[in-house]
Amino acid sequence: MDKKDPILILAPLQGFTDVTFRNVYAKHFCGLDASLAPFISTMGQQRLKPSRLRDVDPHLNQLLPVTPQILGNVAEDFIFLAGHLADMGHNLVNWNLGCPHSKIAKKGRGSGLLLFPEKIDALLDRIIPDIPMALSVKIRLGRKNKDEIHDLIKVFDRHDLDHIILHPRTGIQMYQGTADHDTFGAAMEQSRHSFVYNGDITDTHAFLTVKNRFPGINRFMIGRGILANPFLPEEIKAVPGDPDQRTARLQAFHDDLLAAYSGIISGPGHLTGRMKGFWNYLGPSFKNHKKPVKTILKSTSLPAYTHNVAHFFAAQPVFCP
Ligand SMILES: Cc1cc2nc3c(=O)[nH]c(=O)nc-3n(C[C@H](O)[C@H](O)[C@H](O)COP(=O)(O)O)c2cc1C
Repeated sequence: MDKKDPILILAPLQGFTDVTFRNVYAKHFCGLDASLAPFISTMGQQRLKPSRLRDVDPHLNQLLPVTPQILGNVAEDFIFLAGHLADMGHNLVNWNLGCPHSKIAKKGRGSGLLLFPEKIDALLDRIIPDIPMALSVKIRLGRKNKDEIHDLIKVFDRHDLDHIILHPRTGIQMYQGTADHDTFGAAMEQSRHSFVYNGDITDTHAFLTVKNRFPGINRFMIGRGILANPFLPEEIKAVPGDPDQRTARLQAFHDDLLAAYSGIISGPGHLTGRMKGFWNYLGPSFKNHKKPVKTILKSTSLPAYTHNVAHFFAAQPVFCP
């Protein structure tokens, strides 16, 4: 691969891009360089959830390097969790300051903290000297208003951060409207830090639009676009491949993912529930998807689900994301 190749990072998508997904994905597709894990919440200093730590165990993440992400707003708890992550071998940790969900934001976590730059400032003062690794942040333009970004950038500029991942929407916007490239550019120009672009890269055209707009950026984080089109990183990097094999490759990927989850998710309802989540993104990428994908989503048992999926692929659906 060319040295100038962009660095493509899998975005954290809680409920989707866990270690199981990341490993199965990396077996079937290339093009991704790294991943950021879905957040691990701080839970005081007495408890660590083994399943959440397992998700970022470097030994289990050898196919696609992973950086752990922490959600929290208490310095001591952050330092405690980060210490464990460092013991596992991580030399970088990410702080989630972007989660838009009101339940989390109301508690002053995720994008809820963006309203309080002075709190972020104080937390960074406490956290950075006491964690044995580098820190990056994943942020939005603000909680309520995109102009919040400018005071936030001033705060981040006071601290040593490895980089800033910016998804150019506000928290209350959730995923509505379009990613605001103008404000992304203004924030980047204002800051001394290096930036990772994240948001709405759903096809090569969208990728090139961002890349051409921000020639200084070489790291791009992609989330939902990969669930809708798992070939996206290969397409962006122009990895040669036989277009006629795409549906067969997707089926093999699906079947491996189902097999991997069936080993760890107990209860057929939970298992099919997890798999249906993926169909919500992947399904609309097929031509004439409405009826057959609806049938898959309505499957009420595991045998019905596997039958409906097999039937769907047997009809040789055309993949046109
Ligand atoms: C279902 C779902 C779960 C998410 N979970 C996380 C998370 O755990 N941590 C985080 O920083 N962002 C999370 N995000 C936000 C994404 O990482 C990303 O910033 C957002 O989807 C925009 O990028 P995209 O347009 O490429 O998907 C989540 C988004 C979705 C849709």
